[in-house]
Amino acid sequence: MEVVIVPDAAGGGELIAEAVARLLRHKPDAVLGVATGSTPLPVYRALAARVRSGEVDTSRARIAQLDEYVGLPADHPESYRSVLRREVLEPLAIPMSAFLGPDGTAEDVPGACAAYERALAAAGGVDLQLLGIGTDGHIGFNEPCSSLTSRTRIKTLTEQTRSDNARFFGGDVAQVPQHVVTQGIGTILEARHLVLLATGEGKADAVAATVEGPVAAICPASALQLHPHATVVTDEAAASKLKLAPYFRHSYANKPGWQGI
Ligand code: F6R
Repeated sequence: MEVVIVPDAAGGGELIAEAVARLLRHKPDAVLGVATGSTPLPVYRALAARVRSGEVDTSRARIAQLDEYVGLPADHPESYRSVLRREVLEPLAIPMSAFLGPDGTAEDVPGACAAYERALAAAGGVDLQLLGIGTDGHIGFNEPCSSLTSRTRIKTLTEQTRSDNARFFGGDVAQVPQHVVTQGIGTILEARHLVLLATGEGKADAVAATVEGPVAAICPASALQLHPHATVVTDEAAASKLKLAPYFRHSYANKPGWQGI
């Protein structure tokens, strides 16, 4: 696992946007796996700037959703489909026809999850999966003790996650759905490159457990240690509990530029 410590969230956004730009230059129809929440927004902004300047061509890119609330109408402003339309598809000029996502409104939730797994496979899999991390170490909405081999399925959110996400629902935790469908950890591990961005002091414990703790379901993000190409990008605050921070800095500072992340 590579750990890159950047000065701040904007620096993380630029670094990851550059990795996506590089991927699209080599593979214009790449499948980009995207997360929601606050953390990835600087990545989407940096990418949108590159699209506007003509530096990145997204005309053939495809977007794959990581997770979705169960029971929110698709046109609810906080359904992840709506959020991704607003924050990713429109700014990157990518049409809905290039969007893959699970149906959080389906009556047959297991059927919708299985259909999403089939859609991902038919698309050739995810080339680069962008991840955030929960304060409890979740990736996607794989809460602690999710199976490390899990597939897309329904999960119950922890009260911690619901309270963390209440800010998107006017601060009212009662409005945050209890259930979600999420790509499983096994599904996520099939992406060809995993890039986890973590910013802010509130993520420092989760980042330390992910990078330097044991691989264990109690910290779902620790499964990244099992992936041959996983990059953790963290700002100074989120890196503040990493014992090996000096090594990570030294290693990245001396990395050949042609390698990228
Ligand atoms: C949402 C997702 C979650 C978030 C995590 C952190 O699609 O994948 O794992 O990344 O809850 O959320 P923020 O970035 O809002 O702190």
